[in-house]
Amino acid sequence: MKKRIGVLASGRGTNLQAIIDACKDGTIPDAEVAIVVSDVADAYALERAKAGGIATKVVLRGDFEKVKDFNMAIGDALEEAGVDLVCLAGYMRILSKSLVKRFYGRCLNIHPALLPSFPGLDGQKQAWDYGVKVSGCTVHYVDEGCDTGPVIIQRAVTVDEGCTVKELSAKILKEEHKAYPEAIRLHLSGRLTIAGRRVIISPG
Ligand code: GRF
Repeated sequence: MKKRIGVLASGRGTNLQAIIDACKDGTIPDAEVAIVVSDVADAYALERAKAGGIATKVVLRGDFEKVKDFNMAIGDALEEAGVDLVCLAGYMRILSKSLVKRFYGRCLNIHPALLPSFPGLDGQKQAWDYGVKVSGCTVHYVDEGCDTGPVIIQRAVTVDEGCTVKELSAKILKEEHKAYPEAIRLHLSGRLTIAGRRVIISPG
């Protein structure tokens, strides 16, 4: 049976698309995106899901009085879809502690900087503003902090002389689209072990 991936996305969904494509072309073998859940009703990620014949669910924060119940509904939607793995792909909210706990060890995030540098919003711009010569992206397991979980994969890019934030972001995004499917492939093949801060990748 195919492994089922649930994706949480709030925006344009290019990483979602990379994951969908990687499942379809076998880069991620024996897996499929089973559901895309969004907290934004008109997120373009939902259009991508529909175009790929993937189930979607919108869960709006405004429909819940308590943040705890909102997170519960997100988790329920993922569990009802029977997901083996949750991937945050441009999901613009911090997961509640209980949601992190519910999916710990089977929830990944991608961040557009080389963590632990430049966590939080606009990682690319933070790095560019700082004047670094190298930046990149990080795929990591999700823990209770903001972009603090154990690192699975990082891909670096050089910050070219005179490049704009937009150019740097585009360069990083290209790497994101390779790194995320690769991390998912490793996780689903059972080759990853979390050992404290470290993710051990066993030989294939
Ligand atoms: C990406 O840069 C990702 O690293 C960050 O949010 C952005 C989402 O982009 N977490 P997209 O929606 O996947 O195109």
